[in-house]
Parts: sequence; C-alpha cells; structure tokens
Amino acid sequence: MDRILVFDTTLRDGEQSPGATMTPAEKLRMAHQLDALGVDIIEAGFPISSPDDFGSVQQIAREVRRPVIAALARATQIDIDRAAEALEYAERARLHTFLATSDIHLTHKLKISRAECIDRAAAAVRHALKYTDDVEFSAEDAMRTDPAFLCQVVQAAVDAGATTINIPDTVGYTYPSEYRRVIEQLFSTVTGIEKVVISVHCHNDLGLAVANSLAAVEAGARQVECTINGIGERAGNAALEEIVMSLKVRHDAFPFATSINTPEIHRTSQLLSYITGIHPQPNKAIVGKNAFAHEAGIHQDGMIKDRTTYEIMTPEMVGVSDSQLVLGKHSGRNALARRFRELGYELDVEDLDRAYKLFKLLADQKKTILDEDLISILHHGTMEDVPETFKLHELRVVCGKLPHAEAALGISENGGTPRSSTADGDGPIAAAFAAYQKLVPFRVELDELQVHSATPGQDAVGEVTVRVRVNGVTFTGRGASPDIVVGAVRALLHAVNKAASARVLEARQLEKASYLWGV
Ligand code: KIV
Ligand code: ZN
Repeated sequence: MDRILVFDTTLRDGEQSPGATMTPAEKLRMAHQLDALGVDIIEAGFPISSPDDFGSVQQIAREVRRPVIAALARATQIDIDRAAEALEYAERARLHTFLATSDIHLTHKLKISRAECIDRAAAAVRHALKYTDDVEFSAEDAMRTDPAFLCQVVQAAVDAGATTINIPDTVGYTYPSEYRRVIEQLFSTVTGIEKVVISVHCHNDLGLAVANSLAAVEAGARQVECTINGIGERAGNAALEEIVMSLKVRHDAFPFATSINTPEIHRTSQLLSYITGIHPQPNKAIVGKNAFAHEAGIHQDGMIKDRTTYEIMTPEMVGVSDSQLVLGKHSGRNALARRFRELGYELDVEDLDRAYKLFKLLADQKKTILDEDLISILHHGTMEDVPETFKLHELRVVCGKLPHAEAALGISENGGTPRSSTADGDGPIAAAFAAYQKLVPFRVELDELQVHSATPGQDAVGEVTVRVRVNGVTFTGRGASPDIVVGAVRALLHAVNKAASARVLEARQLEKASYLWGV
C-alpha cells in the first residue's frame, strides 16, 4: 500500500501564527511529542531568521533522532549554509529551500525575471545537495503561478536533483479540482517526476486547506505538509489531525497508510494549546472540545442503541478518554501515577513528586479531581522551562468595592526575602499587575490575557495565558489556579521570568527586526 508522508511544520509555519511564538525549550518539548505522534518529517525552523531559531533547530536535530529534521532556507547560498549548519548533527537531515514562482512575487517582491527564477531554483537545489541528499524545493505561491511556467521551474529543480518537490498554495487561493489538475499536469509534463516525492502545503484562507490537500493526494501527491490544530500564518495551515483522520476514516476512498500513531493526536493538540495559549474552537474537527459531544436527544438515543449511528470514529482513536471523577483528597501517590499512566503519561520519580505536591494542594481546594485537572497539573507543574527568578509569595485582593480594587503582593527575587507592595486598579487583576510594577524592574505592557477553564464547575482550575511585551519583545506566560487572579499573576511572572532569562533583550529585539521572512 502506498504511504503518505506526514511533514509537520508546526514549529516553523505554525509558529508564524500570530501569538504562537515558542521558546526553544517549548519547541523541543513539542518536537519530542511530534516524534511520539509518529510524524515522518519535523520542520524545526528557519535557521537564518534568528539565532534563537538556529539554536532551536540545532537542539532538535541533536536530540530528536527518529524523524527526518528539516530546516527552511530561501534559495540563497547564505540561507542554505546556515540551515545546513543547524542540521549538522541530525540523524537524518533535510534542506528545504524555497523560491516564489508567481509573476506577482517575481515582479513585486523578488524583482527578477522568470529565467532568473529558474536559474536560482536549480542553483539552490545544487548547493543544498552538497550537504545532504535529501533536498526539498518549494515553489512559493505555486497556485497563483502560470501552470506552464510552474512545470518549467519544477523541471529545473528535478533536473538539479531535488528529491521532494512541494507545490504550496501559499495564500490559500486554490480549490480542490484546480489543485488536482495542476498536480496532474506536473505528472504528465515533467520528465523524471516519478523519481521525486510530490508534496502539498495548503493554507486555509478560504477554509479549503484540508480538502485541497486530499485532492492533491488523489492526484498523486505523497507528502502532506500540515500543522497541529491547523495553526499557521493568517487562517492557518492544513490541520494534521484532519488530514490523517480523513485518510484513516475514509480508507475506502484513500487507500494509503500513514505512520501516525493516532491515539497521540489529542495529547499533541493539548500540549500545543498549553504552550501557545491558543485553544482550538470547540467545534474544531477531531480536537475541539465538542468534537465527540452529542447534544441532541435523537442523536443520544441513536448512540445508546449503536454508536455507529452518529459516530464515524471513536474518541479513543484520537486519544480522547472519557472524563471521569477519578481522584480526591485521600488518593495516594500510586493512584496518581496509575491514573497518569492510564492517560498515557509515564512520569519519572521527580515529575511524579512535583505532580503529587500540586495534586495535594489542589485537592485541598477542590473536592473532585478530573482528568483535565491532572493534565493541567502535569503541564504547569512538571514542565517548567524557565528559572523562577521572580516568585509569587503572597497575593491578597479586595474587589467589588468601588471606586477601585486593591491588591497586596509579595514577590521574591532569586530566592531572597520577599518584598511587598500595594496598588489600586480598575479590577483585581489590574490592581495586582500595578503592584507587580512597583516590585519588579521589568516594565511590561500587557497585550492579551486569556482565561481557559480546564474543567467544568465553579471550582474549576483556570488556566491563564498572558502575552506581554518587555522592551518591545513579546513573551507568553502561563499560570494555573482555581483563583484566576492568582493564575494571572503566576502567568505574568512566568512571562517575566522568560524575559529575565533571555540573555540580552536588546539583541533579541534586533534579531526580530532582522527577520527576513519572504523578502
Ligand atoms: O506557504 C508557503 O509557501 C511556505 C513555503 C515556505 C513552503 O510556507
Ligand atoms: Zn506556508
């Protein structure tokens, strides 16, 4: 049976989603989970774009050994050299070089002729082949490119030795039958195309990314580029979970195998949401909160009689387990370890210790601990990625009393004696943040604050995500607590601790400014 290769670009194109910036530690954690999910290729980043991206690709290449690790490079020697350097220690490395091919991009962005475009594409592929025999060429904006010219560029890239040719719908412009026609035209026109893997890369501007990807598979594409939860530039990329489950559920129409371990889908989606603070909408296919909920009486009745009446796949197939009341105040360490194991998380002794402490604290505040609470404990308590330079010791707020809310806050720095301050604000969070500003030297501007309830009920754990700017650089912080004001201050300190550990803020600012994507 033919296989469809799954090329995950969550860490590169996905990270270009507004607000989805990840630290190198977060990317590494995500890369390990993508490995567990079974993706064939992880596009780890765009090394020339910043030293952080370079370091992150390098670290993933060193530590994540099974999947092919790809790095993106424009079709220039300097980009390709930098990407190759980042991939030096990869077990299996892929250089992914791209060049725009549409007249719109050639005229307005690159200011080069079609002939020059062909030459540059071939030269880039030849240069990349000096480092690895796994070279992917992408014709950026392929679906707004004259198809006859697209065939010429692809011919040049194939002749130069590319092993994968990607046909991106960069601006999410195409529709399924058009995409299918273009891929078929490539197959019938380009000599030697049978030696390369044709790949598809769809953006979701018209909501057609997954449908277009499947149409391309029907036309002969054997690699799909996609992201977890469909995150990505603008309206996002094709969602990995939707493509993979379409191929699995409709195996009758798509007789292909993938290497994806589908019960890892839900866990991977949750980890990404936790890291980025971007949660899929409730009705999102496969990973939305309601994806397996049956509300209407007639549906519930059908489900009780026979699940297949209204269910085309089971929640278990994608790793969703039924949420049950499992643990409480008197549950022991072993029970906690067992439940984590049942949920698919094998904790080492250290992580279990930390999780157990948090579990006990939570059980004092909340009678019943649900699976989602455990996941929240796991994410917030056992995956700390940043030194706790500033630590919350005390928070008291008085609110609901006009004209202002008042907060008293105690914070320690580097394990020293906590210092306290008080402040007013329009609400309790504003007051607590104002008190913070009196204690900590990092001035922050709050761009976004989101509260996500991990579990139902009044005693739910609130997971708070903040996006703040420190000296113009954006940091995401996360905090969780049944008290959302405490959660918000924890999230603020998490972001500030990231800022504190970023070595030279000024330098990072310059790096961001020199991010040359698409130029
Ligand atoms: O959308 C796009 O064209 C891309 C390429 C770099 C593959 O992301
Ligand atoms: Zn893209």
